Amino acid sequence: MAIRKIVIQGDEILNKVCRPVTEFNPKLHELIDDMRETLAEANGVGLAAPQVGILRRVVVVLNDDEEIIELVNPEIIAQSGEQRGPEGCLSIPGKFGMVTRPNLVRVRAQDRFGNWFEAEGEGLTARAFCHELEHLDGHLYVEHIDRFLTEEELAAYYREMGYEIEEETSEK
Ligand code: NI
Repeated sequence: MAIRKIVIQGDEILNKVCRPVTEFNPKLHELIDDMRETLAEANGVGLAAPQVGILRRVVVVLNDDEEIIELVNPEIIAQSGEQRGPEGCLSIPGKFGMVTRPNLVRVRAQDRFGNWFEAEGEGLTARAFCHELEHLDGHLYVEHIDRFLTEEELAAYYREMGYEIEEETSEK
């Protein structure tokens, strides 16, 4: 396994449509293993093959149980609800924008051996499914936003959501 270099926005490979995977061979397994390692190292929630320079329909997504789901030739087969929240991308480091996504998403995909299965994601996982699948068609989340969030807006949003934010404690 190896950590691969993540392609940054501006590289035209991120705007290309990926080809379906047709061979479920050791080369595919190596790609998926490397994507898993690259995702973990980058501390991300999802990664698509074009982000490591490979124009094939493969994504990995970290779900709520901290498990990595491997999706080959994935497609969204059902979606419902709506959520609006900050979204980022490993190919656009340090930036976030507010994006509206369905709150529940069901995908159909093949595993690394070619077996079809279905997976459901809610909340952040649903958001990651939508975001990563768009990568496979050459789209980035910035197409859905007017501007990036400021650091203050992002911090305010997380406070509102009740997330713990590390702050320096001042002495009294
Ligand atoms: Ni992305």
